[in-house]
Amino acid sequence: MKRTKLYLFCGKGGVGKTTISSAFSISKALKGNKTLLISTDPAPSLSDLIDTEICNLTFIEIDPQKELENYIENAISFVKSNFNLEVFDKVEAFFRNMGSTPGAEEFALLERLSHLAFETFHNYNVVVIDTAPTGTTLQLLKNSLRAGEWLKELITQRKKAERLKSAAGEVFKEIPLQIENRLERLEKLSDLFISSGTFIPILLAEKLPIAETARLIKELESIGIQIDTLIVNRLLPENPADRFFQKRKHQERLYLEEIRRVFYPRRVITIPMKETDISSVKDLQDIAELLKDL
Ligand SMILES: Nc1ncnc2c1ncn2[C@@H]1O[C@H](COP(=O)(O)OP(=O)(O)OP(=O)(O)O)[C@@H](O)[C@H]1O
Ligand SMILES: [Mg+2]
Repeated sequence: MKRTKLYLFCGKGGVGKTTISSAFSISKALKGNKTLLISTDPAPSLSDLIDTEICNLTFIEIDPQKELENYIENAISFVKSNFNLEVFDKVEAFFRNMGSTPGAEEFALLERLSHLAFETFHNYNVVVIDTAPTGTTLQLLKNSLRAGEWLKELITQRKKAERLKSAAGEVFKEIPLQIENRLERLEKLSDLFISSGTFIPILLAEKLPIAETARLIKELESIGIQIDTLIVNRLLPENPADRFFQKRKHQERLYLEEIRRVFYPRRVITIPMKETDISSVKDLQDIAELLKDL
């Protein structure tokens, strides 16, 4: 079977990740690729739009908050059925508090993604992940690595405890095994992202996003992810009649030149700003057309 191609769009909030990943998925699906689009966007997104209208395209929406709730409930019910009440009370409080720990949503999201990656991705030629905003995206990757360290430590502690209380019973053997499985899955997921993911930063032609994107690329490249292509979204129309927009357009051109220079020799794809928000399959197809060489 052909290897699944994996694409991940990254960039700050509102730059167009959901829009562009949807359009890109449409373009891939229209070319005959069996395509899976995974959106991690908690806001109501384009799901209604791209639902079932395009064959070859499957859409999965993950709500990180819900994933975290499920994760906590599962963990609690596992502890409940395996431990005595005293232990349960303590562990339940621990897991309930986990809900408000920074990065916990991303952790739960990675859990879900790791299941999808190893159970579902192979059914598709193309998988597109509409990632969370820039900082969170990086955190996602780091978390999976850090989660690995944390879980390793837990296993070590667990094994020590096992040696101390050899009469602890079967369940103590089961827990390290479960943790080890999870650790292995998360590590495999980050390996998969790093070794076969095509990461595509999206930015606007403005001052701050240039520096931010440079930082994002540096961080990604430092963990072995090469960036070949960037997308600059929402460019103003050429030759605006209005003086105000002429000035803005002039500034935009300078930033676009800077983007090409700073990120050379990477490819820069530009997407014009539409008159209104993207609200139809037609709009998405217009954008898809610009992404067909990607
Ligand atoms: N080229 C464009 N022309 C006009 N509107 C656009 C364009 N690209 C995106 N938009 C609009 O900008 C808004 C933000 O886009 P989108 O939801 O894709 O961003 P996002 O990066 O996914 O945001 P978030 O970080 O919140 O998930 C949407 O209302 C979308 O319709
Ligand atoms: Mg989005």
